[in-house]
Amino acid sequence: MTARVFISRDAGALAVGADQVARALFKAVGTRNLDVDIIRTGSRGMYWLEPLVEIERPEGRVGYGPVKASDIDGLLDAGMLEGAKHQLYLGLVEDIPFFKRQTRLTFKNCGIIDPRSLEDYQAHGGYQGLKKAIEIGPAATVEEVVNSGLRGRGGAGFPTGIKWRTVLQTPPQQKYIVCNADEGDSGTFADRMIMEGDPFVLIEGMTIAGIAVGATYGYVYIRSEYPQAIEAMEIAIKLAREGGMLGPNVAGSDYAYDMEVRVGAGAYVCGEETSLLESLEGKRGEVRAKPPLPAHIGLFGQPTVINNVLSLATVPIIMSDGATFYRDFGMGRSRGTMPIQLAGNIKHGGLFETAFGISLGELVDDVGGGTRSGRPVRAVQVGGPLGAYFPRELFDTPFDYEAFTARDGLIGHGGIVVFDDTVDMARQARFAMEFCAIESCGKCTPCRIGSARGVELVDRIVADEDREENIIVLEDLCNTMKFGSLCALGGFTPYPVMSALTHFPEDFGAKKKRLEAAE
Ligand SMILES: Cc1cc2nc3c(=O)[nH]c(=O)nc-3n(C[C@H](O)[C@H](O)[C@H](O)COP(=O)(O)O)c2cc1C
Ligand code: SF4
Repeated sequence: MTARVFISRDAGALAVGADQVARALFKAVGTRNLDVDIIRTGSRGMYWLEPLVEIERPEGRVGYGPVKASDIDGLLDAGMLEGAKHQLYLGLVEDIPFFKRQTRLTFKNCGIIDPRSLEDYQAHGGYQGLKKAIEIGPAATVEEVVNSGLRGRGGAGFPTGIKWRTVLQTPPQQKYIVCNADEGDSGTFADRMIMEGDPFVLIEGMTIAGIAVGATYGYVYIRSEYPQAIEAMEIAIKLAREGGMLGPNVAGSDYAYDMEVRVGAGAYVCGEETSLLESLEGKRGEVRAKPPLPAHIGLFGQPTVINNVLSLATVPIIMSDGATFYRDFGMGRSRGTMPIQLAGNIKHGGLFETAFGISLGELVDDVGGGTRSGRPVRAVQVGGPLGAYFPRELFDTPFDYEAFTARDGLIGHGGIVVFDDTVDMARQARFAMEFCAIESCGKCTPCRIGSARGVELVDRIVADEDREENIIVLEDLCNTMKFGSLCALGGFTPYPVMSALTHFPEDFGAKKKRLEAAE
């Protein structure tokens, strides 16, 4: 019987040698004349175990990792193909605690299926959501997404169904679906993992969106730093088209929908939706004033749904398993699951999908296992470069949009970057201002000029030049940026700066008392 072996070709696995391992295995099974089928999948998201080699056994997939090419002969000698014990033996992959305690809905098939096989996707429940959407039609599909409680996973958390309803209600004309795969937030990689590990789920989600709002064409805007994701999406789009799942008669229906990949040119601000549309139109990535909303006047002046990869990739399971099934997970107004990305100085970094409501402390200390350096965790930044720094005292905050907002933070795209006690929070505050100055599109003054002045102010504070006065000026500047900026780049940069100043005043040389008195 042919043994089936699975090795990821996800960029995170390739970076630590997955290709070399696959080649070594290929060579060894040739030399030994073994009957082995090597299937390249996406990653399970347990990056500290990559390259992870999985063997299909009657009881499930047995894992070995992290494997080096030089380990292959020893593993084969020890009986890896029969699931035998070895020092790299991990047991059943789905029993590894990090994996077992997750609720995988959006990532249901990631790391399991062959991302270059439409048949494999369909064999794992793929395209059932689309089937349902075709059956019930556009209006009912939109209402299903509204009822699921799904909110945009790109950062702002706007209800996806409401956005779709707005586009559905615009008069019939050329409409577009745009998928935001710019994924610029620090410590985030969930969009990339989906595109590399389960690209058909994104294509299915975009196709459902197209049918729901009456859009016949879509674009996936992928950052240029993601060559593997670009390749995976292009291959999958071609296969979907050949399989009749894209084109003039989607899945044999009367609905037409097709799509293509567009590659970004490397600006953080091109992830902002209106700037992204400018870029897609071939212009410089500069933010547009709102209104009009992209739902009314979007790409090429036409009504456009623009959603993050995760928002769109979650739609198929909502359609196949029902809005109620999905909304039963979560807390408050944060319904369903969130693919959380653990990064930075963390022992067990990776993708952890779970229902909203888990506490920040549980994620960092229990799931992530604390720092990789072994030193105490001092701060975490949640929600990308515009997210607040939280100290340990705020680790009881549940992962929930409103709970984070109440503590002057944001969950953004679900990235958590961990820092140990060697971090200098004044440097981090300076970095936030510097990042904003470099990435600013330059359209509005608070951001363009404010961020440059912010860098200078942090420098003066750290150099002990009129420290108290300059801290007051910095606070004032942050307020101007927060309330006067046109988009969230300038508007949210104050969050990392002010949270660093509020929670870690000792790094700025200020007396803690002054800030406590101000509260
Ligand atoms: C500076 C900036 C960068 C952004 N980068 C991204 C990004 O990389 N990916 C993303 O999906 N959304 C990003 N957003 C949010 C988008 O503007 C928009 O809210 C999102 O694409 C809408 O999709 P959603 O409702 O599915 O989240 C960014 C916003 C700002 C202000
Ligand atoms: S806040 Fe910054 S990035 Fe946003 S529109 Fe203004 S200048 Fe451009």
